[in-house]
Amino acid sequence: MLALLLLQFVTVLCDVKTIFYDSYRGVNITDDEVKSYDARNITFWCVNEIEPCDPLEGRRVDGSCNNLEKPSRGASHTPFIRLLPPYFDYPFKNFEHTKAASGNSMPLARYLRTRLLSVGKVPSQRYTQLALYAFLFMAADGTSLHDTINFVFWRPYCCFEKGKKDQYCAPNKIPDDDPVHRFSGIRCFNMTKPETFQSIGCLPKETIPERIVSSTPLLDLSTVYGNFVENLDVKGRLFQVGLLKYEVAHGRVWPPSSKTLNNLCVGNQLPRETRCHDMPEDGANTLAGISLMTIWYWRNHNLIAKELFKVNSCWDDEMLFTTARDINIAIFNQINYYELMPLFLGCGNLLRDGILSPSAGFRDIYNKTIEPRMSLEYSFVLRWMHTIQEGTLKMFDPYGFYLKQVPIVNLTLRTGYLAVDNNIDYITQGSFRQGSGKVDYIADPDMADRALGPYQKAADVMTNDLAKNRHFGFQPYIRYREICFGKLIRMFDDLRGIIDPERIEILKDVYEKEIDIDLMAGIWVEKPIPEGYVPSTLYCLIIDQLRRNIVSDRHWYERSKRPRAFNERQLAEIRKYTIARLLCDVGDTVSSIQPQAFLKARGKNNKITKCSKIPKIHYGQWFDSTCNLSR
Ligand SMILES: *[C@@H]1O[C@H](CO)[C@@H](O)[C@H](O)[C@H]1NC(C)=O
Ligand SMILES: *[C@@H]1O[C@H](CO)[C@@H](O)[C@H](O)[C@H]1NC(C)=O
Ligand SMILES: *[C@@H]1O[C@H](CO)[C@@H](O)[C@H](O)[C@H]1NC(C)=O
Ligand SMILES: *[C@@H]1O[C@H](CO)[C@@H](O)[C@H](O)[C@H]1NC(C)=O
Ligand SMILES: *[C@@H]1O[C@H](CO)[C@@H](O)[C@H](O)[C@H]1NC(C)=O
Repeated sequence: MLALLLLQFVTVLCDVKTIFYDSYRGVNITDDEVKSYDARNITFWCVNEIEPCDPLEGRRVDGSCNNLEKPSRGASHTPFIRLLPPYFDYPFKNFEHTKAASGNSMPLARYLRTRLLSVGKVPSQRYTQLALYAFLFMAADGTSLHDTINFVFWRPYCCFEKGKKDQYCAPNKIPDDDPVHRFSGIRCFNMTKPETFQSIGCLPKETIPERIVSSTPLLDLSTVYGNFVENLDVKGRLFQVGLLKYEVAHGRVWPPSSKTLNNLCVGNQLPRETRCHDMPEDGANTLAGISLMTIWYWRNHNLIAKELFKVNSCWDDEMLFTTARDINIAIFNQINYYELMPLFLGCGNLLRDGILSPSAGFRDIYNKTIEPRMSLEYSFVLRWMHTIQEGTLKMFDPYGFYLKQVPIVNLTLRTGYLAVDNNIDYITQGSFRQGSGKVDYIADPDMADRALGPYQKAADVMTNDLAKNRHFGFQPYIRYREICFGKLIRMFDDLRGIIDPERIEILKDVYEKEIDIDLMAGIWVEKPIPEGYVPSTLYCLIIDQLRRNIVSDRHWYERSKRPRAFNERQLAEIRKYTIARLLCDVGDTVSSIQPQAFLKARGKNNKITKCSKIPKIHYGQWFDSTCNLSR
């Protein structure tokens, strides 16, 4: 009898039937509906296939089952939310925003960029390059860089006649009297529209375009672990003692590089530069800052797994792997929330707005009615960072002596550069010694004119940002001011106090009415939030998402009531962690660093210090007493 029962139980277990969800709507669908997507070969995008949720399991790689009532939310290819409804020319036909309130044409994106942002090189005395890398890395966790790959490699004709017939193409016209290109003869920047549920075919073309990306909308180190468990299993896991796959070359540890499979690193200068990381996500080989951060967190996973194995020799690969991943993600978010964001947004502001926990203990503010989704506004406004990106990457030796420099745009899609001439050592040293661009109204010349380095004759990343503002159909800047700060803006002069008078004057020059001001344009010229360093509307749109992450992520590391939660002492260990520690542990040749490495080394409190003085995690807190019992 008992055997029979057991047998039944086992068959039930083995017969787990996956459930299909419509990726846009988030509801389960029938096999027939799935077949109709199969017939059009778009199931990968339009359908999430999910194994039934187990409320006691930890965070899934694909983000599913984060919300037990809406299992597909949190997974890849699920929609963004919008804080304000979309705004397109009336009647909504082409879903374009080309008309000002008066019915005249909106000013060209490139024209606005050249009028609203100056170009020059002003190094920040406050932030290091590392701060920008970390900011970029956090942004990359939830979005996609495929838009750029699209117009550079897949549709390289947007500025040509052929581009006029391709509905994906959205090139940017350059005005005749452009301050730079009146001399170059270049009249057009290549660009494509972002991929949407409509462009893929998941939703009818006549409906309002909704962006689709592969990243999970959670801050879960997607760049390292990927968004699909199959990719992680094949490209990531070693399946031994919890480790990720790795290679050792010239004494350095790297993620695996298949020299033949991955053709993304088109910038590699062969035959010397061959490294190209074959990891679960393409993001690992894109921008230099993102590649570097990915390598560090990849190594960090293995370091954690080894430490855990020292403490708990009875743990199997699965236990070591999932625990190491959980700790790595916790460290990532601890750095994002408690170290990086306060330096830009202001610590007092974040405490007041409930983004930072006022105490070191647990924080359980999970709310299952709020789905794990990302706002389109948040993922978009982070592009403001382009204005503070430094164009020149400086390299230093471990004693802080300057060695050489390279334009950072030359390193895009060129992971191989890191692995020759000890470059990774020197770039790592430079990351915490060189300043980023200053937070001002001045953008680096490379960002403004050759943002895609060798891949385009000319590219202005901020012109593209402003143009995308209109393709996404964001409401006017002043509407966001209203929802953020509750004050109506009825005329340009109501912007006094929010924007400096000289920049209000430029806005009056370039826009007909205050309602025409694009969201990104307003953010470019805004004054910083009091007690912080970023534009006030940017602040508002970022903290909205930072809060949503905490309340909507059931596996948020500060919770005591999540499956396999940390205990109080383990959380206290995580809270000690800093970016300086990460570099001490896994950065090449780092034996001393300033404790607050997102800020330039200065004064008594933030001078370059031996790594032994930088707090570290005691993995003894993860000691599992059942290991002793089994021995
Ligand atoms: C969705 O799942 C529920 C519960 O399992 C089931 O009752 C319902 O029939 C399913 N709907 C579809 C369209 O398959
Ligand atoms: C189906 O889609 C996948 C990925 O989206 C693609 O790699 C494959 O080539 C497509 N197959 C066909 C027959 O179009
Ligand atoms: C959860 O969020 C919903 C929607 O915002 C809100 O109405 C509700 O009060 C929240 N619940 C808790 C316990 O905070
Ligand atoms: C950077 O790339 C440009 C071409 O895109 C090239 O002319 C220049 O020499 C490169 N600079 C370095 C330092 O490699
Ligand atoms: C746009 O792409 C085409 C085709 O690759 C290229 O010839 C042209 O130089 C690009 N435009 C710019 C401004 O780089």
